[in-house]
Amino acid sequence: MNDLSNSRRNFLALAATAPAAVAFANSASAQSNDEQSSTKSRAGRAAIITGSSRGIGAATARRLARDGFSITVNYLTNRDLADSVAREIEAGGGRAIVRQADVADPAAVKALFDAHDEAFGGVDVVISNAGIMNVGPFAQMTDAAFNRMIATNLTGSFNVLREAARRIRDGGRIVTLSSSITLSNPAFTGAYAASKAAQVSYASVLAKELSGRNISVNAISPGAVDTQLLRQHGEEALKGIPERTPLRRLGQPEDIAGVIASLCVTDGAWINGQNVFANGGLS
Ligand SMILES: NC(=O)c1ccc[n+]([C@@H]2O[C@H](COP(=O)([O-])OP(=O)(O)OC[C@H]3O[C@@H](n4cnc5c(N)ncnc54)[C@H](OP(=O)(O)O)[C@@H]3O)[C@@H](O)[C@H]2O)c1
Repeated sequence: MNDLSNSRRNFLALAATAPAAVAFANSASAQSNDEQSSTKSRAGRAAIITGSSRGIGAATARRLARDGFSITVNYLTNRDLADSVAREIEAGGGRAIVRQADVADPAAVKALFDAHDEAFGGVDVVISNAGIMNVGPFAQMTDAAFNRMIATNLTGSFNVLREAARRIRDGGRIVTLSSSITLSNPAFTGAYAASKAAQVSYASVLAKELSGRNISVNAISPGAVDTQLLRQHGEEALKGIPERTPLRRLGQPEDIAGVIASLCVTDGAWINGQNVFANGGLS
């Protein structure tokens, strides 16, 4: 059995007993949708959500659109899913553009923000959501799996938060995705947990740096949420979680989108520099 198979087997064993948190490259085909959207009104508030083709990011894009934000939907590989999120937003009367960007690439992140600014005139909310989860024991984690995860979760989120710090308008909101896995630090999740713990530091530090501009910066720490990030490890990765959760079910992307949205409205303004746990009581 190879390293990754071993890692997966070990992770699945873990899932039964511990909390399982398991470029701008504007293509020719992308252009027409983007151009149509950017001809619409530039007034109002606007949000960038990285990794919003599916999962928590897609739910957050839909939710913030319903709350009145114009949305930049970002994806890495799933163009069709990202397009369908944008179409849904537009069908509901909202505005959206779609941009591919690898958050690990600072130039791509800059281009993502450039496209957003071009379409909507500025950014009020940035959700640093794009992330991946590679699991496995220290002894078996490959350099490639470790490096890609750090490039996405640690460097990628830094690239997004740095660009947000340079551009966000006064009164803005920044949220970065940590994880409740940092509460339990289960075996086989070392590199992932470390990359997520860093988000709490990012939020706390950036909140101070943006002081005086009525901008809040927070981390949010979901528990296990029913998305591809967990399901890629098989059904067993989700086993036992509802039973261990006081609210007796698995988290849904919409649960997290609702908490993120609550940080982005006026009533959430006094929450700043915090790590907000959203896990149904799973500890
Ligand atoms: N699900 C959970 O249980 C859970 C728990 C705690 C925290 N979180 C955190 O919540 C965030 C979202 O997780 P999820 O469960 O919604 O994951 P998901 O369903 O796997 O979706 C991940 C999203 O990130 C995008 N993405 C991946 N790598 C990227 C990159 N390098 N550049 C730009 N986009 C990239 C994907 O784009 P493509 O579709 O194009 O590949 C996709 O839109 C992650 O940061 C994760 O660590 C999740």
